[in-house]
Amino acid sequence: MTDWDVKERRQRCKALQADFFANRALVIAANRGPVTFESAEDGSLQCHRGGGGLVTALTGLCRHTDATWIACAQTEADAAWREGTIALREGCTQDSDDSGAIRVQFLSPDASAYDGYYNVIANPLLWFLQHSMWDVPRAPVIDQSTWHAWEHGYVSVNLLFAEAVAQQVQTASRPTLVMLQDYHLYLTPRFVREKMRGVEQPTLLHFVHIPWPGPEYWRILPPTMRQAILDGLCGVDVLGLQTREDGLNFIRTCESYLPGARVNYKRGRVSYRNRATYVRDFPISIDVKALRELAQSSEVAEHRVEIHNIVEDEQLILRIDRIEPSKNIVRGFFAFEEMLDLYPEHRGQVKFLAILVPSRLEVNEYQDYADELMAAAGRVNAKYGDSEWEPVRLLVGDDYARGIAALQRYDVLLVNAIADGMNLVAKEGPVVNQRSGVLILSEGAGAHQRLESGATIISPCDVYTTAQALHQALVMPAKERQDRAARLRCLVEHEDITVWLCRQLETVVELGL
Ligand code: G6P
Repeated sequence: MTDWDVKERRQRCKALQADFFANRALVIAANRGPVTFESAEDGSLQCHRGGGGLVTALTGLCRHTDATWIACAQTEADAAWREGTIALREGCTQDSDDSGAIRVQFLSPDASAYDGYYNVIANPLLWFLQHSMWDVPRAPVIDQSTWHAWEHGYVSVNLLFAEAVAQQVQTASRPTLVMLQDYHLYLTPRFVREKMRGVEQPTLLHFVHIPWPGPEYWRILPPTMRQAILDGLCGVDVLGLQTREDGLNFIRTCESYLPGARVNYKRGRVSYRNRATYVRDFPISIDVKALRELAQSSEVAEHRVEIHNIVEDEQLILRIDRIEPSKNIVRGFFAFEEMLDLYPEHRGQVKFLAILVPSRLEVNEYQDYADELMAAAGRVNAKYGDSEWEPVRLLVGDDYARGIAALQRYDVLLVNAIADGMNLVAKEGPVVNQRSGVLILSEGAGAHQRLESGATIISPCDVYTTAQALHQALVMPAKERQDRAARLRCLVEHEDITVWLCRQLETVVELGL
């Protein structure tokens, strides 16, 4: 695709957004909001904007219409602030006069309800199930406390969301599109439908960011929970998933476990309780333009110096992940170790840099995994490292600009997740990388379906083949690296986050909703 095509597509998307929202209002509901607040020392509230393309893409819609984002308060300051209008032009400010401002409403479930909803049901129960990570002979153990977390946490927080959504829809002066996000809110759509019985119903669109496995995996859940989730999601008009396979799995799951549901695979439709839910795939992507601008900033330039001091003239194998068992970080170190074993010529010549962002450390499985990966990295360093050479370096912390600087420098980017809805690092890397680096990509990441032709695809449990892939990538001839890197860049440009958003709006229009 030429630069011109990409620009034209972007223009068409913008026009569609303006047209779509000329007579519609928008409500977004997600566990996290687009901003969080912190109390400064002088008692004032300081606003921080959430990173990532999702916030940029969704909040960008407020240029066209009245938009409200409903989320759970993440800090005490969020809870104290409760709701208001925020301008997100540069960073974020409290400003109701700005034409591009978004209304934000924070919900404050009590601490134990939130804990059950987030730390017991959403993560780990649903997250582990949907990433095929439960060790079924041993876990999960669904006991009284899990049921308590379900009833008094997940169900009650979803009800809170539904009340807030229904209220916003009823106060809007125009028909409303409600965009629900992710696995935290599976029950919300049905609750909204029930609360709004007899009044004009909004259009509900729910996007699931994580994989949807086949019915075999959903058997792990007790039928009551399973059915409530499917019943909840069949309250929407359009259900978006990352890949076609996820969509087919959803339909299969309804066919297996939702009594009374009629499914139509050809049309991608589940009919249930006198309503049709259309199941579509909308592969999520990144904001290519914003990423390129950031990559050229002075902030990233400073981090480039830091990365250069760590890597110097060695070849660089890089990974960037949340500290998350589904990312398969430990097997990544095993593969590196095996490569050094099989191909000793790389010793002293290559560094494996793992940039790791702490995540969900209140959940035991995450804490254990953090310990395990530190030990695995330590073992490689103890086995092969010496005073001259440190094979593995871990950088722990959440610094997006540093990550971008590292992505510019890699020779090999390793993304070996066991399962991943999409994996955006696999898309960011090729856009900013300056060394025609090779992408090694797991077939378990949704991104592999789009990027297959430019990446080296591996099976995530196969450490031996991953080790071979690392070696092949390090010795790949320059011409082949350049061709693959160009292909990857083009694939990502072709489908950036604007396309993800526009496909959803187009679907609503096509279905006449
Ligand atoms: C990842 C997933 C998203 C999910 C998010 C939640 O980014 O891909 O689907 O919503 O994690 O992370 P959190 O830090 O809020 O638990």
